[in-house]
Amino acid sequence: MKSIPRMMKVGFLQFGPILKQVEENIDKISKIISTTGNFDLLVIPELANSGYVFVNRSELAEVAEEIPNGYFVEKLTELAKEKDGYIVSGICEKKGETFFNSSVLVGPEGYIGKYRKIHLFDREELFFQPGDGEFRLFNVRGMNVGLLICWDWIFPEATRSLALQGMDILAHSTNLVLSYCQSAMITRSIENRIFTITSNRTGFEKNGEFELHFKGQSQITSPDAKRLAQAGTDTEELQLAEIDVEKARNKWLSDRNHIFEDRRPEKYNKLIGKK
Ligand code: ACM
Repeated sequence: MKSIPRMMKVGFLQFGPILKQVEENIDKISKIISTTGNFDLLVIPELANSGYVFVNRSELAEVAEEIPNGYFVEKLTELAKEKDGYIVSGICEKKGETFFNSSVLVGPEGYIGKYRKIHLFDREELFFQPGDGEFRLFNVRGMNVGLLICWDWIFPEATRSLALQGMDILAHSTNLVLSYCQSAMITRSIENRIFTITSNRTGFEKNGEFELHFKGQSQITSPDAKRLAQAGTDTEELQLAEIDVEKARNKWLSDRNHIFEDRRPEKYNKLIGKK
């Protein structure tokens, strides 16, 4: 039988990316990471290489990169090697003429995998293709890690699809502009008995007539509904927490209630589009 990993050091890096300044953004990330010791898993916000408020597709073309052989992924991998840890980061991805709002997972051994955001938010639909992949897990030091990006949070089916595969911890890179998500992630943690890391960006971004204010308050939540760490609204910071992964493997809420085995999928036809 495979042994369950126990104590793991996991966290978020919260910062304000600068629009279309990829080198400055990786420098900021690198400076913040240099203030901490080793970690097992660190999550960085959505579109951390590029910023968010695009006005046209040619702006994306300036900053997007092919995965895995681009500048940003190469630099992230160097940081993962230095810290002997794994990093999930949002990234503006290019594939031919197409753009995806993606996140990558890199570790000391190099590039591991990616997730392309499936549920696009608002004006993202003008620039990005919705993700064409599956909800799938990645193994990080024995932990089962799932990747989602921002607006995916409002579809509980997305987190559930990962949780039913055995997810221990959700790496959730965000650029949140509404104030509901942080509370909802406590519920996502309870209903799936998982840990979550929401790594949000900060700052005000204006481009032409479009402007957004991002909400910070990155956080780590636990299966028993605790916030293990939470950042400020406007601060650039990195926080880590030690988690006992075994807690996410126990799906019993009482002697008689197993949150997955008690489900009644035969009653949920509408959920999967059946009559
Ligand atoms: C979002 O999906 N960036 C709100």
